[in-house]
Amino acid sequence: MTLSREAAWKKLDLHPDPTLEELFAADAERVEKLSTRLELGEVGIRFDWSKTHLTQDLLTDFETLAQVSDFDAMRTKLFNGETVNPTEGRAAEHSALRGVGKDSSVEEAAALLERMKLLVEAIHDGAFGDVKHLIHVGIGGSALGPALAVDALGRDDPKVDVHVVSNIDGVALEEAFSHCDPATTMIAIASKTFTTIETMTNATSALKWLADSGVSDPTGRVIALTAYPEKAVEWGVDETRILPFAESVGGRYSLWSSIGFPVAMSVGWDDFAAMLDGAAKVDEHFRDTSGRDNLPLRAAFSDLYYSQLKGSQTRAVFAYDERMRLLPDYLQQLEMESNGKSVKVDGTPAGSTAPITWGGVGTDAQHAVFQLLHQGTHLVPVDFIASIEPGDMLDAAHHHILLMNCFAQGAALMAGKQSDDPHRHYPGNRPSATILVDDLDPATFGALVAFHEHRVFAAAVLMDINPFDQFGVELGKEIAKKIEKGGESFDASTEALLKAAGVG
Ligand code: F6P
Repeated sequence: MTLSREAAWKKLDLHPDPTLEELFAADAERVEKLSTRLELGEVGIRFDWSKTHLTQDLLTDFETLAQVSDFDAMRTKLFNGETVNPTEGRAAEHSALRGVGKDSSVEEAAALLERMKLLVEAIHDGAFGDVKHLIHVGIGGSALGPALAVDALGRDDPKVDVHVVSNIDGVALEEAFSHCDPATTMIAIASKTFTTIETMTNATSALKWLADSGVSDPTGRVIALTAYPEKAVEWGVDETRILPFAESVGGRYSLWSSIGFPVAMSVGWDDFAAMLDGAAKVDEHFRDTSGRDNLPLRAAFSDLYYSQLKGSQTRAVFAYDERMRLLPDYLQQLEMESNGKSVKVDGTPAGSTAPITWGGVGTDAQHAVFQLLHQGTHLVPVDFIASIEPGDMLDAAHHHILLMNCFAQGAALMAGKQSDDPHRHYPGNRPSATILVDDLDPATFGALVAFHEHRVFAAAVLMDINPFDQFGVELGKEIAKKIEKGGESFDASTEALLKAAGVG
């Protein structure tokens, strides 16, 4: 007999609550069963979910939930380029940019990427004169992925010095100007819609900065990255300098498209292509692997175990790698803009959905927020991410201490420490997962990001929500426009603030 989704959730809720210590004591093979290495050619990534409360029985019942949630069919739709975003009637074809998806979409994506490659290589070869700097203006998905990737992969001898500017606060753009020589700077305007007020305002100011600095053809230094090339033409960008991408690629999933232009400018085309290949390996794994062996799906099982069944409202990610310090920012948008919803696909209430994603970089965070993780009152499942190979050339002690600390934190959260002194008592039994890459390179980086994309999708399918729209961000934008236009009144507090600041 097929269960309903509700019945599958109820069954999951009936499981006993052994401690992590008990789970390890009961199964000598727990680590092997819940740690999987994903091979990406010469390098690999180890995903260790053994320090979570997942059990084989729970996994079996989560697999049932996936089955009754039509997970396989939704995944097929995703990779076939069918509509998976019903509120906007769209597919979500980011994987096609990595070569995995509907044939025609993969072909179209490859052609667009080829065009991008030619432009990137032409700039590197001097077609635009001496280009030393790139100011990339974009916001949200048009900034967070590029900023993360450039910071993670573009540190050693970058081909071009890239500055990603997102905030409308002019302080951000001024800071970028202070690092760049206008004579050797190009501007990338990254906006899927090419209408976002922050990006268009920053683009106008960047162009003015070039003109005011005596650059003879400022517009000729602009590259537009957008799904609406006609809007970029209207804005004044020549067609030869527009790099389009498909409308079916969502903003927060667009790193792989021309939005990744600054990444390719920084690291070169070969490394950008290696990043796509690493992500493709995860696409294939996610598409072709069933049940608990599917790593993004297993991670989603664990995420939902804590958020749906144990009342956890938050989830933390700590990269023990300075190069990945922007990962929490990136994941915040990916997870919270995707799955921060209140209704199911059919519009009925969804119950609790995405936890609040936050995090930081290790070891810094240990000296700032880990107190709450070890002794606070919130249940916070933690992800640790680290690389076996160091990213630095200094004494090996640096990386050694970094890794030891990473593993020590997971162990401490799980084991805790008994004490008669309540202030010195650590309850333990606190869950964590560890993602350990052999080496942080373009391929493992691409794989890590794709793993998270699919984890978010899998969680959405199991929660029966649409991860690909984001209507929640519209209302604030509308009110800002109304304020700008004038003639309307707002609540007393807002009116008083507008008056105090002399705006509106
Ligand atoms: O405001 C949210 C959002 O729509 C994000 O989803 C998107 O990544 C960002 O704005 C930027 O949009 P665009 O690329 O169209 O400028």
